[in-house]
Amino acid sequence: MNIKNICCIGAGYVGGPTMAVIAQECPHIKVTIVDINESRIDAWNDENLNNLPVFEPGLSQIVQETRDKNLFFSTDIDKAIDEAEMIFISVNTPTKTYGKGKGMAADLKYIELCARQIAKVAKQDKIVVEKSTLPVRTAEALKSILDNTGNGVQFQILSNPEFLAEGTAVQDLLNPDRVLIGGDIDSEEGNEAIQALVDVYANWVSQEKILTTKVWSSELSKLTANAFLAQRVSSINAMSELCEKTGADVNEVSKAIGMDTRIGSKFLKASVGFGGSCFQKDILNLVYIAQSYGLSEVADYWEQVILMNEHQKNRFSDNIVSTLYNTVSGKKITFLGWAFKKDTNDTRESAAIKVADNLLNEQANVVVYDPKVSKERIYADLEYLNTRFSEVNRNLLSVENDPYKACKETHAIAVLTEWDEFKKYDWQKIYDSMNKPAFLFDGRGLLDKESLEKIGFVFYKIGVG
Ligand code: UDX
Ligand code: UDX
Repeated sequence: MNIKNICCIGAGYVGGPTMAVIAQECPHIKVTIVDINESRIDAWNDENLNNLPVFEPGLSQIVQETRDKNLFFSTDIDKAIDEAEMIFISVNTPTKTYGKGKGMAADLKYIELCARQIAKVAKQDKIVVEKSTLPVRTAEALKSILDNTGNGVQFQILSNPEFLAEGTAVQDLLNPDRVLIGGDIDSEEGNEAIQALVDVYANWVSQEKILTTKVWSSELSKLTANAFLAQRVSSINAMSELCEKTGADVNEVSKAIGMDTRIGSKFLKASVGFGGSCFQKDILNLVYIAQSYGLSEVADYWEQVILMNEHQKNRFSDNIVSTLYNTVSGKKITFLGWAFKKDTNDTRESAAIKVADNLLNEQANVVVYDPKVSKERIYADLEYLNTRFSEVNRNLLSVENDPYKACKETHAIAVLTEWDEFKKYDWQKIYDSMNKPAFLFDGRGLLDKESLEKIGFVFYKIGVG
């Protein structure tokens, strides 16, 4: 089977970059990304590439080269489904906020809506690819909806989880460690569908890196990979607290253990806590699945990764309060960074949100500067927590688009995201404009302790005692 026409439902952080790279690497395939959100599609079609809804290094270039050639953004979902031989589902699967599994299970309502729409529209056989991170055995539910509500056409369901990390999405897509494709390996039609997707990736990924498995293994691998990665961050963050107490330096510990090839050097950077759309959601999902099979030890084991992360965020804000003489009420505190990591405008589950919320509870006046995150996004993130009235958030927290202005006459600066530009600031100028003592809390281990202390800052770096 030779794929010539691909549709992707969901023009977000995953769907957008993934399809842009497929379009660039497969000029013979027409790729259409559809979304129910019209303003998002308009933004993807905006002539000014600075207005694309997703910021990723290298992405605007690819969109410029492929858009309206073989990459299209549209709100006409039915037409795109009808034309495509292969449909990727890349809609969001947030944690449920209601009913059974509230706060833990994945909310699959958007996935189900997509399946019903595909079933309604499809007049020829289709391959449906799960791109969204899903709980194990979702493919089964998808198949059931498609087979029972469709027009009698044949559907093959594949699981093709995304391993790209935001901020490096384009590079991760161009040079993936592996591409994972799960499908019905026991049937001929299943194998044909798997091969069709393998052939798409084989346009730029070498065959050894394309792994095919049964659907359940593929679905579970995504959750497992994220759980292992998040666990590494929680493990090193646990050590960061011990380092602070004992006078050790977590960066030295990381380096020492990372040189052990069995452990490896990546993902050992202590931080104010992991964020992002996947880690917390996927682990909660894993915990929920384990619980529902009665595996309470397995569930507790993984839940601890989340609890450690909550602790890391809370102890960062507690430390700010206690260092500032146990009161931050009415004091200006400046946040450098709001995104969950550098090089992205995504803020989902960012540690900054929780740290800000804790400080607002103490009636601090938080001022935020982030090079890529909009003011409205910041207020929306706080509002989502529902801790206080929205007017109170807007009174207590303000957003600046000039970092020097944000730091002027502040009592303390907290680094929440590791943006490179923070290293290049004129820290003497910032120091001179601040209230004294000038406190600086580096939640990302980004800045140079020695030179900042020489300027006069009272400097705290995560994990350094
Ligand atoms: C999301 C999930 O967070 C992730 O777990 C999964 O692996 C892929 O999908 P992301 O692309 O980052 O990742 O989400 P988001 O940026 O929110 O994009 C989802 C898009 O789907 C939104 O633009 C939304 O409007 C769209 N959508 C949602 C639809 O088009 N139809 C729907 O029914 C629901
Ligand atoms: C993650 C996975 O890496 C990716 O494979 C999957 O597809 C989606 O989830 P992402 O959430 O984009 O990607 O970012 P990632 O680079 O994994 O970082 C997650 C969080 O962990 C960030 O807040 C980051 O700052 C933090 N982190 C990461 C650390 O605190 N220390 C580290 O050493 C690494």
